[in-house]
Amino acid sequence: MQNLDSIVHAAKAAFAATFDPDALEQAKARYLGKSGRITVLLKELGKLTAEEKRKTGAAINQAKAAVETALAERREAIKQAELSARLADEALDVTLPGRSEAQGSLHPVTRTLERIERLFASIGFAVADGPEIETDFYNFTALNTPEDHPARSMHDTFYLLDKHGKLAEKVLLRTHTSPIQARYMQAHMAKYAGQETMPEIRIIAPGRVYRVDSDATHSPMFHQVEGLWVGENVSFADLKGVIADFLRRFFETDDLEVRFRPSFFPFTEPSAEIDVAFMRGTQKGRWLEIAGCGMVHPNVLKHAGIDPEKYTGFAFGFGPDRLAMLRYGVNDLRLFFEGDLRFLRQFA
Ligand code: FA5
Ligand code: MG
Repeated sequence: MQNLDSIVHAAKAAFAATFDPDALEQAKARYLGKSGRITVLLKELGKLTAEEKRKTGAAINQAKAAVETALAERREAIKQAELSARLADEALDVTLPGRSEAQGSLHPVTRTLERIERLFASIGFAVADGPEIETDFYNFTALNTPEDHPARSMHDTFYLLDKHGKLAEKVLLRTHTSPIQARYMQAHMAKYAGQETMPEIRIIAPGRVYRVDSDATHSPMFHQVEGLWVGENVSFADLKGVIADFLRRFFETDDLEVRFRPSFFPFTEPSAEIDVAFMRGTQKGRWLEIAGCGMVHPNVLKHAGIDPEKYTGFAFGFGPDRLAMLRYGVNDLRLFFEGDLRFLRQFA
């Protein structure tokens, strides 16, 4: 039958023009669905005589089988095409460069602090620490600093507000790491109370400190490394020896220009400040102060319950940010704290 051939032909063409299962099912309905062209022909068989019915019926069934085969083939083809597309989509291109994690690195001041800790650990100093929010007592009073000392003024020290926004009574951001001296000696004496002799104290205490300060060599937040050695017969000569040895090892040079400049701190007597010659290129520039130091004042020892007749000690407070400036040749200390990655990456 001419008509049947053209229906089969049209069905094949319609199936071939679909590219996804939904479209194919719609095309199928037009031929094999309830009112599809093949279905309609089969329904009409009823009107024919038995003889015609057999002949025509066989022809229609053949056409129907041909359409069903074409449908099954197209289904399979679409399935394969979808699978190939998915495989292509999920394919790994092993020739692409890898996606690496962004690598962090230690801040130059952190590296400096770790270096200082390592050097002092090698001569028997343990590491201690204390709170950054400190009381007026530990920051000043326990360190023999009188009520009217200028460091206690609002111009120099960040005081804290209480929850009502009023100035908190005697609570501040520590202005130096020296309160750890007082805290550590007090705890040490509590531990060895009642004993004839106390073990030596030999600690450093690195940490952040705060002052109302800002210029090329002063940052409002900076770091200090406190040092404290208390025992029998600890002398100023020991202080000089420890510091000179540390600086030689820190800067990896024997001909560093260092001077001890007489100075004053309420908590040490005698006191000195330590300056290092700041190189500008190969030319010696000016002196840069890197630390304060001295023999622990007898009043500070007494405050902690240590007998100043029996024990002596020295203390120092380094500015590690300044040590980093000198070591890396940086001329503005505030650069360390601006968080500019172009600057910081140079130390990675
Ligand atoms: C003190 O703070 C004393 N507590 C040091 C000390 C400890 C003396 C123990 C005796 C015994 P001074 O204010 O000088 O001292 O500060 C010590 C060091 O911190 C300075 O030499 C300097 O290197 C560093 N420093 C001080 N202020 C700043 C700042 N604003 N920014 C960066 N570094 C600073
Ligand atoms: Mg000073």
